[in-house]
Amino acid sequence: ATTDAAREPMPLAEVNLADLDRFTDGVTPWRMFHTLRHQDPVHWQPEDAPNSGFWAVTRHADIARVDRDPETFTSTRFVNLEEVDDDQIRRRASLLELDGLRHRALRGLLQRQFGARVISGYADFLRGLTATTLDAALARGTFDFVKEVSADFPINVLARLLDVPPEDNQRLIDWGNRVIGHTDPDYADVLLDSAESERYRDLPFRSPASLEVFAYGRELARQRRGGAGTDLVSRLVNEVPRDGVPLSDRDFDNYFLLLVVAGNETTRHTISHAMLALLQHPEQLARLRDDPSLIPTAVEEFLRWASPVYHFRRTATRDTELGGKRVRAGEKVVMWFASGNRDEEVFGDPYAFDVARRDNDHLTFGKGGPHLCLGNQLARTEIRILFEELVPRLADARLAGDVPRVRSNFVNGVKRLPVTVTLA
Ligand code: HEM
Repeated sequence: ATTDAAREPMPLAEVNLADLDRFTDGVTPWRMFHTLRHQDPVHWQPEDAPNSGFWAVTRHADIARVDRDPETFTSTRFVNLEEVDDDQIRRRASLLELDGLRHRALRGLLQRQFGARVISGYADFLRGLTATTLDAALARGTFDFVKEVSADFPINVLARLLDVPPEDNQRLIDWGNRVIGHTDPDYADVLLDSAESERYRDLPFRSPASLEVFAYGRELARQRRGGAGTDLVSRLVNEVPRDGVPLSDRDFDNYFLLLVVAGNETTRHTISHAMLALLQHPEQLARLRDDPSLIPTAVEEFLRWASPVYHFRRTATRDTELGGKRVRAGEKVVMWFASGNRDEEVFGDPYAFDVARRDNDHLTFGKGGPHLCLGNQLARTEIRILFEELVPRLADARLAGDVPRVRSNFVNGVKRLPVTVTLA
């Protein structure tokens, strides 16, 4: 039923991708994307503030064009919808908000650490963590899958990559939630769209919790400077970037914070959405149980289906044309990855959840541009191992209550997922 509702068009005038309250029922966002792809694929979306708005890019091909052309569509004016001034940009720019040489140099510092070879070396650790997490959760019979399985899993993995002591994991988890949940009252100390957030305008996501993350990261950096460690922090403080310019304290703060937040909610929500999809499509769960060799294609379908990052934004550096519209220099151009993931031009029967889907050219990690998710191999490996371990343990699994969503047009998140399971 959800998938039929998702493709029901609405009057164009009712579409509002800037209204966060439309992003809480799990259906309206998909209806808005469907409507735009069919009626106005590059759509001017006004925002509340006077003279503001953005181009909503909703088709796969147009999104790919924007993501692959950083000279015309820059990340340096920031990648979410927030308006930023030059001073904020100087203070807050991380890898995500740099282009060109400096971006390549900073990304290069950790490229190998996130490459397939190094990540495959974590397989045993991931399998062990998965087994412990699942055994504790499934023994409960009825439980919240988000709380017991998906929520803390990614940050426990990151803690290992950062080589921090396990007793610090809970702090990292809390910080990650508070920083990135900045539009949802369940997580944020200060809501991004509240008047109070003005006080924190110079901080990432306008979140006071980011100061705690900075302090923690700096202490790790101090301990590891000059050492022989191979963890991510040691690399950042001991390697010289390819452009020869060492990381400033501020570069380090922003890089460290990005690592703490980038893979946290994204991976968590993918795992939750994947479980929800299997509960809503029991025949697909049965297919996986009968044929575990389908897990790799299932992982790609989980990623497409979940679309945990709704959008990333760019800013036009010059006047250009996109999907028949005249885009002017300085205007915000927003790639709605989630919409591209349901594009009928690219995906056969895009609203069907199919664990055996082939040629799954989804946009969940971006589309071949310089900012393609650095953690994509890690995320794929985590999700694969989790479902390799979960599927054979389940004889039966059912949804046991409502599934509230995160109030955000940036992160497509599930807050709670009550399930009842019977063990195999
Ligand atoms: C960038 C999604 C997991 C680290 C990105 C981008 C997206 C994304 C859409 C921007 C792509 C673009 O602009 O073309 C996701 C999703 C994940 C995930 C959906 C999980 C399912 C992770 C993990 C890590 C990570 C586990 C690391 C711990 C990063 C970093 C960047 C990035 C550092 C910035 C790369 C750059 O600017 O060059 N991610 N991500 N991500 N991601 Fe992920």
